[in-house]
Amino acid sequence: MRLDLSTWIEVEAYLRRCDGIIVPTGSTEQHGPIGLIGTDTLCARAIAEGAGDIADALVAPDIGYTPAPFNMAFPGTLSVSLETFSALVREVIEGLASHGFGHIYLLNGHGANLEPLKAIAADIVSDIATTAKIRIRSWWDFEPVNLIRTELYGDWEGMHATPSEVAITQAAHRIIEDPGLAPPEKLSAGFIKTHAGDRHGQPDDHRRQFPDGRVGSHSSLAKPEHGHRLLAAASEAVAQDYAAFVRN
Ligand code: NI
Repeated sequence: MRLDLSTWIEVEAYLRRCDGIIVPTGSTEQHGPIGLIGTDTLCARAIAEGAGDIADALVAPDIGYTPAPFNMAFPGTLSVSLETFSALVREVIEGLASHGFGHIYLLNGHGANLEPLKAIAADIVSDIATTAKIRIRSWWDFEPVNLIRTELYGDWEGMHATPSEVAITQAAHRIIEDPGLAPPEKLSAGFIKTHAGDRHGQPDDHRRQFPDGRVGSHSSLAKPEHGHRLLAAASEAVAQDYAAFVRN
């Protein structure tokens, strides 16, 4: 059930039986030659809606303008500052809480959002501006999802423009014809460790190092049928986690 497609009468009725809501967070950034600019947001949105259907949860509009400064050398990427993102998320949470949403579940699709989201949640809780509880999960946090990612792609999942996220957007939206991409450069264990959470450098350097935008991810392995499997598994896992969250 989508908040933006609901009336206030319906939201008021919902709040009488449940105070939970799922808020998808993503990004607006390049995802390689066959990945859509909105990939992170589109994945979080599709999974949030799937989970919402299973768990009878309301899903808020996406937060898709987020920090992705390292991708700004690729056309189409839109990055906002940490301050802007933090203020936006904070005000959305405070707005939801003011209406009586007591369990706010942030479903994330962009690695670089995680640290700021955790900081905002800690800040809001310590502020006692609200008694709302906040849970932050990325859609790849769940074991059933990761078993499928590993089974389908192994190390070729990589770090950015991953075949799993491309597959989900293929299932949910559109397929970009593959121009015959060669596998990307393999990432070293050291690189993966030091760049976790999307810690990449200056935009021009990043594009020089990864000219087509893929970071160790063999996006061409993606297939829409994989996307349907991933969507189903992730929606189920998020629905269960959300239901447990709302119960306490
Ligand atoms: Ni992504």
